[in-house]
Amino acid sequence: MVDMETIVNLCKARGFVFQSSEIYGGIGSSYDYGPLGVALKRNVKNVWWRDMVETRDDIVGLDSAIIMHPKVWEASGHLENFTDPLVDCKECKQRFRADDLDSERCPACGGELTEARMFNTMFKTFMGPVEDEASVTYLRPETAQGIFVNFANILAATRKKLPFGVGQIGKSFRNEITPGNFTFRTREFEQMEMEYFVMPGTDEEWFEYWVNERFNWYVKYGVKKENLRLRPHEKEKLSHYSKATTDIEYNYPFGWGELEGIANRTDFDLTVHSRASGKQLTYFDEQSGQHITPYVIEPAAGADRTALVFLLDAYDVETVTKGDKSDKRTVLRFHKDIAPVKAAVLPLLRNRPELVETAKNLAADLQKCFPTMYDDTASIGRLYRRQDEIGTLWCITVDVQTVEEDNKVTVRDRDTMLQIRINIEQVKPYLKKELEKDC
Ligand code: GAP
Repeated sequence: MVDMETIVNLCKARGFVFQSSEIYGGIGSSYDYGPLGVALKRNVKNVWWRDMVETRDDIVGLDSAIIMHPKVWEASGHLENFTDPLVDCKECKQRFRADDLDSERCPACGGELTEARMFNTMFKTFMGPVEDEASVTYLRPETAQGIFVNFANILAATRKKLPFGVGQIGKSFRNEITPGNFTFRTREFEQMEMEYFVMPGTDEEWFEYWVNERFNWYVKYGVKKENLRLRPHEKEKLSHYSKATTDIEYNYPFGWGELEGIANRTDFDLTVHSRASGKQLTYFDEQSGQHITPYVIEPAAGADRTALVFLLDAYDVETVTKGDKSDKRTVLRFHKDIAPVKAAVLPLLRNRPELVETAKNLAADLQKCFPTMYDDTASIGRLYRRQDEIGTLWCITVDVQTVEEDNKVTVRDRDTMLQIRINIEQVKPYLKKELEKDC
Protein backbone atom coordinates (compact mmCIF):
# COMPACT_ATOMS: atom_id res chain seq x y z
CA MET A 1 0.00 0.00 0.00
CA VAL A 2 1.14 3.53 -0.82
CA ASP A 3 2.20 5.71 2.12
CA MET A 4 0.64 9.09 2.79
CA GLU A 5 3.84 11.03 2.11
CA THR A 6 4.05 9.68 -1.45
CA ILE A 7 0.44 10.70 -2.12
CA VAL A 8 0.92 14.16 -0.57
CA ASN A 9 4.03 14.70 -2.73
CA LEU A 10 2.32 13.48 -5.89
CA CYS A 11 -0.69 15.70 -5.13
CA LYS A 12 1.51 18.77 -4.88
CA ALA A 13 3.81 17.97 -7.80
CA ARG A 14 1.00 17.18 -10.24
CA GLY A 15 -1.50 19.79 -9.07
CA PHE A 16 -4.13 17.77 -7.20
CA VAL A 17 -3.93 19.33 -3.72
CA PHE A 18 -1.87 22.17 -2.21
CA GLN A 19 -1.46 23.29 1.38
CA SER A 20 -3.67 26.37 1.82
CA SER A 21 -1.87 29.74 2.17
CA GLU A 22 1.45 27.94 1.71
CA ILE A 23 3.44 31.13 1.03
CA TYR A 24 2.56 32.28 4.57
CA GLY A 25 3.64 29.00 6.10
CA GLY A 26 0.28 27.28 5.55
CA ILE A 27 -2.80 27.17 7.76
CA GLY A 28 -3.46 24.01 9.74
CA SER A 29 -5.76 21.53 8.08
CA SER A 30 -6.84 23.70 5.14
CA TYR A 31 -6.15 22.52 1.62
CA ASP A 32 -6.67 23.90 -1.87
CA TYR A 33 -7.57 21.72 -4.83
CA GLY A 34 -5.30 22.42 -7.83
CA PRO A 35 -6.12 22.07 -11.54
CA LEU A 36 -6.40 18.26 -11.42
CA GLY A 37 -7.82 18.09 -7.89
CA VAL A 38 -10.73 20.35 -8.69
CA ALA A 39 -11.60 18.11 -11.65
CA LEU A 40 -11.22 14.97 -9.53
CA LYS A 41 -13.46 16.26 -6.73
CA ARG A 42 -16.02 17.56 -9.23
CA ASN A 43 -16.18 14.09 -10.78
CA VAL A 44 -16.69 12.55 -7.32
CA LYS A 45 -19.61 14.91 -6.67
CA ASN A 46 -21.04 14.42 -10.15
CA VAL A 47 -21.17 10.62 -9.91
CA TRP A 48 -22.68 10.83 -6.41
CA TRP A 49 -25.32 13.28 -7.64
CA ARG A 50 -26.06 11.19 -10.72
CA ASP A 51 -26.41 7.95 -8.73
CA MET A 52 -28.09 9.36 -5.62
CA VAL A 53 -30.39 12.00 -7.16
CA GLU A 54 -30.65 12.21 -10.96
CA THR A 55 -31.20 8.55 -11.77
CA ARG A 56 -33.68 7.94 -8.93
CA ASP A 57 -37.38 8.85 -9.09
CA ASP A 58 -37.57 8.63 -5.30
CA ILE A 59 -34.86 11.25 -4.56
CA VAL A 60 -34.75 14.99 -5.22
CA GLY A 61 -32.00 17.56 -4.70
CA LEU A 62 -31.49 20.63 -2.53
CA ASP A 63 -28.86 23.34 -2.08
CA SER A 64 -29.53 25.06 1.25
CA ALA A 65 -27.62 27.92 2.89
CA ILE A 66 -24.51 27.40 5.02
CA ILE A 67 -25.61 30.04 7.55
CA MET A 68 -28.95 29.11 9.07
CA HIS A 69 -31.11 30.48 11.88
CA PRO A 70 -29.27 29.83 15.18
CA LYS A 71 -32.44 28.18 16.51
CA VAL A 72 -31.81 25.33 14.06
CA TRP A 73 -28.73 24.31 16.06
CA GLU A 74 -30.48 24.73 19.38
CA ALA A 75 -33.36 22.50 18.28
CA SER A 76 -31.18 19.92 16.53
CA GLY A 77 -29.17 19.38 19.70
CA HIS A 78 -25.88 20.55 18.15
CA LEU A 79 -25.46 23.44 20.60
CA GLU A 80 -25.65 21.05 23.49
CA ASN A 81 -24.24 17.83 22.08
CA PHE A 82 -21.89 18.57 19.20
CA THR A 83 -18.92 18.47 21.50
CA ASP A 84 -15.64 16.63 21.80
CA PRO A 85 -13.78 15.97 25.06
CA LEU A 86 -10.59 18.06 25.02
CA VAL A 87 -7.46 17.50 27.14
CA ASP A 88 -4.22 19.52 27.31
CA CYS A 89 -0.77 18.22 28.17
CA LYS A 90 0.57 20.12 31.19
CA GLU A 91 4.14 19.64 29.94
CA CYS A 92 4.25 20.15 26.16
CA LYS A 93 0.90 22.00 25.91
CA GLN A 94 -0.36 19.85 23.02
CA ARG A 95 -4.11 19.26 22.72
CA PHE A 96 -5.86 15.96 22.17
CA ARG A 97 -9.32 14.49 21.94
CA ALA A 98 -9.66 12.46 25.12
CA ASP A 99 -11.59 9.71 23.33
CA ASP A 100 -8.69 9.22 20.86
CA LEU A 101 -6.20 8.38 23.62
CA ASP A 102 -5.32 4.90 24.83
CA SER A 103 -3.55 6.02 28.00
CA GLU A 104 -3.96 8.71 30.63
CA ARG A 105 -0.57 10.28 29.76
CA CYS A 106 0.33 12.59 26.87
CA PRO A 107 1.07 10.46 23.74
CA ALA A 108 3.70 13.00 22.61
CA CYS A 109 5.84 13.44 25.76
CA GLY A 110 4.29 11.23 28.43
CA GLY A 111 3.34 14.31 30.49
CA GLU A 112 0.33 14.67 32.76
CA LEU A 113 -2.97 15.61 31.11
CA THR A 114 -5.63 18.05 32.33
CA GLU A 115 -9.17 16.90 33.13
CA ALA A 116 -11.27 16.53 29.97
CA ARG A 117 -13.57 19.46 29.20
CA MET A 118 -16.25 19.49 26.55
CA PHE A 119 -15.57 21.67 23.52
CA ASN A 120 -18.30 22.58 21.01
CA THR A 121 -16.90 22.07 17.51
CA MET A 122 -19.29 24.40 15.70
CA PHE A 123 -17.69 27.54 14.20
CA LYS A 124 -19.30 30.59 15.77
CA THR A 125 -19.64 33.86 13.89
CA PHE A 126 -21.73 37.04 13.89
CA MET A 127 -24.46 38.04 11.46
CA GLY A 128 -24.29 41.75 10.61
CA PRO A 129 -22.01 44.49 11.93
CA VAL A 130 -22.66 44.16 15.67
CA GLU A 131 -20.73 41.47 17.49
CA ASP A 132 -23.11 40.75 20.36
CA GLU A 133 -24.92 37.68 21.68
CA ALA A 134 -28.06 38.50 19.66
CA SER A 135 -26.15 38.27 16.36
CA VAL A 136 -24.34 34.98 17.07
CA THR A 137 -24.74 32.42 14.33
CA TYR A 138 -22.89 29.27 13.19
CA LEU A 139 -21.36 27.77 10.08
CA ARG A 140 -23.24 24.50 9.56
CA PRO A 141 -21.43 21.41 10.86
CA GLU A 142 -23.53 19.12 8.61
CA THR A 143 -25.65 19.71 5.50
CA ALA A 144 -28.45 17.51 6.85
CA GLN A 145 -30.26 20.20 8.87
CA GLY A 146 -30.94 22.24 5.72
CA ILE A 147 -32.93 19.25 4.48
CA PHE A 148 -34.94 18.76 7.68
CA VAL A 149 -36.00 22.40 7.94
CA ASN A 150 -37.13 22.30 4.28
CA PHE A 151 -39.09 19.07 4.69
CA ALA A 152 -42.54 20.73 4.43
CA ASN A 153 -41.46 22.92 1.47
CA ILE A 154 -40.13 19.94 -0.48
CA LEU A 155 -43.15 17.78 0.30
CA ALA A 156 -45.55 20.51 -0.86
CA ALA A 157 -43.53 21.27 -4.00
CA THR A 158 -42.88 17.71 -5.16
CA ARG A 159 -45.88 15.75 -3.73
CA LYS A 160 -43.53 12.82 -3.13
CA LYS A 161 -44.86 9.69 -1.46
CA LEU A 162 -42.93 7.78 1.21
CA PRO A 163 -40.31 6.49 0.93
CA PHE A 164 -38.47 9.42 -0.65
CA GLY A 165 -35.15 11.16 -0.17
CA VAL A 166 -33.50 14.55 -0.45
CA GLY A 167 -29.83 14.77 -1.43
CA GLN A 168 -27.48 17.65 -0.92
CA ILE A 169 -23.80 18.40 -1.56
CA GLY A 170 -22.10 21.30 0.18
CA LYS A 171 -19.50 22.66 2.56
CA SER A 172 -19.60 21.94 6.27
CA PHE A 173 -17.35 23.30 9.01
CA ARG A 174 -16.12 21.78 12.26
CA ASN A 175 -13.55 23.23 14.61
CA GLU A 176 -11.87 19.82 14.96
CA ILE A 177 -9.48 19.44 17.90
CA THR A 178 -7.20 17.07 16.03
CA PRO A 179 -7.41 17.60 12.27
CA GLY A 180 -4.85 15.69 10.27
CA ASN A 181 -3.87 12.95 7.87
CA PHE A 182 -3.94 15.32 4.91
CA THR A 183 -7.52 15.88 3.68
CA PHE A 184 -8.94 13.08 5.85
CA ARG A 185 -9.91 15.38 8.72
CA THR A 186 -10.06 19.10 8.04
CA ARG A 187 -12.01 21.98 9.53
CA GLU A 188 -13.68 22.91 6.24
CA PHE A 189 -14.89 20.05 4.05
CA GLU A 190 -17.60 19.03 1.63
CA GLN A 191 -20.33 16.56 2.46
CA MET A 192 -22.61 14.52 0.19
CA GLU A 193 -25.64 13.67 2.32
CA MET A 194 -29.02 12.18 1.61
CA GLU A 195 -31.94 12.03 4.03
CA TYR A 196 -34.29 9.17 3.13
CA PHE A 197 -37.75 9.53 4.71
CA VAL A 198 -39.54 6.23 5.39
CA MET A 199 -42.60 4.85 7.20
CA PRO A 200 -41.81 4.13 10.85
CA GLY A 201 -41.45 0.37 11.17
CA THR A 202 -39.75 0.01 7.78
CA ASP A 203 -36.65 1.93 8.93
CA GLU A 204 -34.51 -1.10 9.79
CA GLU A 205 -35.03 -2.63 6.36
CA TRP A 206 -34.14 0.65 4.65
CA PHE A 207 -31.11 1.02 6.85
CA GLU A 208 -29.79 -2.34 5.62
CA TYR A 209 -30.63 -1.37 2.03
CA TRP A 210 -28.64 1.87 2.20
CA VAL A 211 -25.65 0.28 3.94
CA ASN A 212 -25.39 -2.20 1.04
CA GLU A 213 -26.07 0.37 -1.68
CA ARG A 214 -23.39 2.69 -0.40
CA PHE A 215 -20.79 -0.05 0.13
CA ASN A 216 -21.34 -1.25 -3.45
CA TRP A 217 -21.10 2.32 -4.74
CA TYR A 218 -17.42 2.54 -3.78
CA VAL A 219 -16.75 -0.86 -5.33
CA LYS A 220 -18.50 0.26 -8.53
CA TYR A 221 -16.04 3.14 -8.84
CA GLY A 222 -13.04 0.88 -8.48
CA VAL A 223 -12.25 0.79 -4.75
CA LYS A 224 -10.92 -2.68 -3.91
CA LYS A 225 -13.35 -4.63 -1.74
CA GLU A 226 -10.57 -5.83 0.56
CA ASN A 227 -9.81 -2.19 1.46
CA LEU A 228 -13.39 -1.56 2.63
CA ARG A 229 -15.27 -2.85 5.65
CA LEU A 230 -18.45 -2.14 7.60
CA ARG A 231 -18.26 -1.13 11.25
CA PRO A 232 -21.50 -0.91 13.24
CA HIS A 233 -21.24 1.60 16.13
CA GLU A 234 -21.62 0.37 19.68
CA LYS A 235 -24.91 1.56 21.22
CA GLU A 236 -23.16 3.74 23.83
CA LYS A 237 -21.13 5.59 21.15
CA LEU A 238 -24.08 6.62 18.95
CA SER A 239 -24.67 10.30 18.11
CA HIS A 240 -27.42 12.02 20.05
CA TYR A 241 -29.90 11.57 17.15
CA SER A 242 -29.13 8.01 16.12
CA LYS A 243 -30.76 4.63 16.81
CA ALA A 244 -28.12 2.77 14.75
CA THR A 245 -25.08 3.80 12.71
CA THR A 246 -22.77 1.77 10.48
CA ASP A 247 -19.59 3.26 9.08
CA ILE A 248 -18.08 2.26 5.78
CA GLU A 249 -14.38 2.23 6.62
CA TYR A 250 -11.34 2.32 4.37
CA ASN A 251 -7.93 0.88 5.07
CA TYR A 252 -5.97 4.17 4.89
CA PRO A 253 -2.14 4.17 5.13
CA PHE A 254 -2.63 5.23 8.78
CA GLY A 255 -5.13 2.41 9.49
CA TRP A 256 -8.86 1.78 9.20
CA GLY A 257 -10.95 4.95 9.34
CA GLU A 258 -14.38 6.27 8.44
CA LEU A 259 -15.22 7.02 4.84
CA GLU A 260 -19.01 7.32 5.16
CA GLY A 261 -21.58 6.88 7.92
CA ILE A 262 -25.09 5.51 7.48
CA ALA A 263 -27.41 6.42 10.36
CA ASN A 264 -30.96 5.66 11.39
CA ARG A 265 -31.92 9.12 12.68
CA THR A 266 -35.46 7.97 13.54
CA ASP A 267 -38.03 10.80 13.73
CA PHE A 268 -35.65 12.79 15.95
CA ASP A 269 -34.92 15.76 13.68
CA LEU A 270 -38.42 16.35 12.32
CA THR A 271 -39.85 16.05 15.82
CA VAL A 272 -37.45 18.51 17.46
CA HIS A 273 -37.80 21.08 14.64
CA SER A 274 -41.56 20.78 14.68
CA ARG A 275 -41.60 21.31 18.45
CA ALA A 276 -39.21 24.28 18.34
CA SER A 277 -40.73 26.04 15.32
CA GLY A 278 -44.37 25.27 16.02
CA LYS A 279 -44.73 24.10 12.39
CA GLN A 280 -46.19 20.75 11.42
CA LEU A 281 -43.50 18.54 9.86
CA THR A 282 -45.53 15.45 9.13
CA TYR A 283 -46.65 13.33 6.19
CA PHE A 284 -50.30 12.47 5.52
CA ASP A 285 -50.61 8.74 5.07
CA GLU A 286 -53.66 8.13 2.86
CA GLN A 287 -53.90 4.48 3.79
CA SER A 288 -54.30 5.02 7.52
CA GLY A 289 -55.76 8.53 7.21
CA GLN A 290 -53.19 9.75 9.75
CA HIS A 291 -50.45 12.34 9.91
CA ILE A 292 -47.19 10.60 10.74
CA THR A 293 -43.64 11.75 11.39
CA PRO A 294 -41.40 9.78 9.02
CA TYR A 295 -38.21 8.07 10.12
CA VAL A 296 -34.98 9.03 8.38
CA ILE A 297 -32.12 6.91 7.04
CA GLU A 298 -29.06 9.01 6.27
CA PRO A 299 -26.09 7.96 4.13
CA ALA A 300 -23.56 10.75 4.85
CA ALA A 301 -20.36 10.80 2.80
CA GLY A 302 -17.49 13.26 2.49
CA ALA A 303 -16.43 14.48 -0.95
CA ASP A 304 -12.85 15.15 0.21
CA ARG A 305 -12.49 11.77 1.90
CA THR A 306 -13.95 10.01 -1.14
CA ALA A 307 -11.54 11.85 -3.46
CA LEU A 308 -8.67 10.87 -1.14
CA VAL A 309 -9.77 7.22 -1.13
CA PHE A 310 -10.10 7.15 -4.92
CA LEU A 311 -6.56 8.54 -5.16
CA LEU A 312 -5.06 6.11 -2.65
CA ASP A 313 -6.80 3.11 -4.13
CA ALA A 314 -5.94 4.03 -7.72
CA TYR A 315 -2.22 4.40 -6.99
CA ASP A 316 -0.05 1.69 -8.51
CA VAL A 317 3.61 1.23 -9.40
CA GLU A 318 4.29 -1.30 -12.12
CA THR A 319 7.45 -2.73 -13.65
CA VAL A 320 7.41 -2.47 -17.42
CA THR A 321 9.76 -4.72 -19.35
CA LYS A 322 10.70 -4.05 -22.97
CA GLY A 323 13.27 -6.45 -24.41
CA ASP A 324 16.08 -6.66 -21.86
CA LYS A 325 15.22 -3.28 -20.31
CA SER A 326 12.87 -2.80 -17.41
CA ASP A 327 11.50 0.37 -16.00
CA LYS A 328 8.98 1.43 -13.35
CA ARG A 329 5.87 3.42 -14.09
CA THR A 330 3.51 5.07 -11.61
CA VAL A 331 -0.09 4.91 -12.70
CA LEU A 332 -3.32 6.14 -11.16
CA ARG A 333 -5.88 3.56 -12.22
CA PHE A 334 -8.93 5.79 -11.79
CA HIS A 335 -12.35 4.60 -12.90
CA LYS A 336 -13.22 6.26 -16.23
CA ASP A 337 -15.84 8.53 -14.61
CA ILE A 338 -13.41 9.64 -11.90
CA ALA A 339 -10.28 10.30 -14.01
CA PRO A 340 -9.79 14.10 -14.19
CA VAL A 341 -8.38 13.94 -17.73
CA LYS A 342 -9.89 11.51 -20.20
CA ALA A 343 -7.48 11.87 -23.11
CA ALA A 344 -4.14 13.48 -23.99
CA VAL A 345 -3.13 14.33 -27.54
CA LEU A 346 0.61 14.24 -28.16
CA PRO A 347 2.52 15.05 -31.34
CA LEU A 348 5.46 12.69 -31.80
CA LEU A 349 7.67 15.56 -33.00
CA ARG A 350 7.10 19.08 -31.75
CA ASN A 351 9.30 20.68 -34.42
CA ARG A 352 7.00 19.57 -37.25
CA PRO A 353 4.26 22.24 -37.61
CA GLU A 354 1.85 19.97 -39.49
CA LEU A 355 1.99 17.35 -36.66
CA VAL A 356 1.50 20.03 -34.02
CA GLU A 357 -1.43 21.58 -35.90
CA THR A 358 -3.15 18.23 -36.45
CA ALA A 359 -2.69 17.30 -32.79
CA LYS A 360 -3.94 20.67 -31.53
CA ASN A 361 -7.01 20.49 -33.77
CA LEU A 362 -7.82 17.00 -32.55
CA ALA A 363 -7.40 18.06 -28.88
CA ALA A 364 -9.69 21.08 -29.43
CA ASP A 365 -12.31 18.86 -31.02
CA LEU A 366 -12.20 16.30 -28.17
CA GLN A 367 -12.35 19.09 -25.55
CA LYS A 368 -15.89 19.88 -26.72
CA CYS A 369 -16.95 16.49 -25.35
CA PHE A 370 -14.62 15.65 -22.43
CA PRO A 371 -11.49 16.95 -20.63
CA THR A 372 -8.55 16.55 -22.99
CA MET A 373 -4.97 17.75 -22.66
CA TYR A 374 -2.51 18.73 -25.36
CA ASP A 375 1.17 18.28 -24.48
CA ASP A 376 4.38 18.51 -26.51
CA THR A 377 6.84 19.47 -23.80
CA ALA A 378 8.88 16.26 -23.65
CA SER A 379 9.72 13.06 -25.48
CA ILE A 380 6.85 10.66 -26.11
CA GLY A 381 8.05 8.16 -23.49
CA ARG A 382 8.14 10.84 -20.82
CA LEU A 383 4.75 12.24 -21.91
CA TYR A 384 3.19 8.78 -21.52
CA ARG A 385 4.61 8.45 -18.00
CA ARG A 386 3.29 11.89 -17.01
CA GLN A 387 -0.18 11.04 -18.23
CA ASP A 388 -0.08 7.65 -16.46
CA GLU A 389 0.83 9.42 -13.24
CA ILE A 390 -2.33 11.56 -13.36
CA GLY A 391 -4.55 8.70 -14.52
CA THR A 392 -5.34 9.87 -18.08
CA LEU A 393 -7.33 7.12 -19.77
CA TRP A 394 -5.92 7.38 -23.30
CA CYS A 395 -2.90 8.94 -25.01
CA ILE A 396 -3.36 9.73 -28.67
CA THR A 397 -0.21 10.18 -30.70
CA VAL A 398 0.00 12.04 -33.99
CA ASP A 399 3.07 10.97 -36.02
CA VAL A 400 4.59 11.56 -39.45
CA GLN A 401 2.58 8.70 -40.95
CA THR A 402 -0.62 10.42 -39.77
CA VAL A 403 -0.01 13.56 -41.81
CA GLU A 404 1.89 12.08 -44.75
CA GLU A 405 0.25 8.71 -45.33
CA ASP A 406 -2.85 7.34 -43.68
CA ASN A 407 -4.59 9.99 -41.49
CA LYS A 408 -4.42 7.44 -38.65
CA VAL A 409 -3.32 8.02 -35.04
CA THR A 410 -2.20 5.73 -32.24
CA VAL A 411 -4.53 5.33 -29.25
CA ARG A 412 -2.78 3.93 -26.17
CA ASP A 413 -4.76 2.49 -23.28
CA ARG A 414 -3.57 3.58 -19.79
CA ASP A 415 -3.98 0.23 -18.05
CA THR A 416 -2.92 -2.28 -20.69
CA MET A 417 -0.56 0.09 -22.58
CA LEU A 418 -1.87 -1.61 -25.73
CA GLN A 419 -1.94 0.60 -28.78
CA ILE A 420 -4.39 0.58 -31.66
CA ARG A 421 -4.19 2.62 -34.84
CA ILE A 422 -7.40 4.21 -36.00
CA ASN A 423 -8.50 6.90 -38.40
CA ILE A 424 -8.36 10.37 -36.84
CA GLU A 425 -12.10 10.86 -37.52
CA GLN A 426 -12.83 7.71 -35.55
CA VAL A 427 -11.12 8.89 -32.36
CA LYS A 428 -14.01 10.93 -30.97
CA PRO A 429 -16.75 8.32 -31.59
CA TYR A 430 -14.45 5.57 -30.26
CA LEU A 431 -13.63 7.37 -26.99
CA LYS A 432 -17.23 8.58 -26.53
CA LYS A 433 -18.47 5.01 -26.88
CA GLU A 434 -15.94 3.79 -24.30
CA LEU A 435 -16.79 6.62 -21.87
CA GLU A 436 -20.54 6.10 -22.19
CA LYS A 437 -20.30 2.31 -21.94
CA ASP A 438 -22.71 1.92 -19.02
CA CYS A 439 -25.04 4.84 -19.79
N1 GAP B 1 -25.03 14.27 9.00
C1 GAP B 1 -24.27 13.24 9.58
C2 GAP B 1 -22.85 13.52 9.64
O1 GAP B 1 -22.42 14.63 9.41
P1 GAP B 1 -20.51 12.43 10.07
O2 GAP B 1 -20.14 10.98 10.19
O3 GAP B 1 -20.10 13.33 11.15
O4 GAP B 1 -22.09 12.42 9.89
C3 GAP B 1 -20.29 12.36 7.46
O5 GAP B 1 -19.98 12.99 8.68
C4 GAP B 1 -19.07 12.28 6.57
O6 GAP B 1 -18.52 13.59 6.38
C5 GAP B 1 -17.91 11.47 7.15
O7 GAP B 1 -18.08 10.08 6.91
C6 GAP B 1 -16.73 12.03 6.39
O8 GAP B 1 -16.62 11.44 5.10
C7 GAP B 1 -17.11 13.49 6.25
N2 GAP B 1 -16.46 14.27 7.33
C8 GAP B 1 -16.89 14.47 8.59
N3 GAP B 1 -16.02 15.23 9.28
C9 GAP B 1 -15.01 15.54 8.44
C10 GAP B 1 -13.80 16.30 8.55
N4 GAP B 1 -13.49 16.93 9.67
N5 GAP B 1 -12.98 16.37 7.46
C11 GAP B 1 -13.29 15.75 6.30
N6 GAP B 1 -14.43 15.02 6.15
C12 GAP B 1 -15.28 14.91 7.18
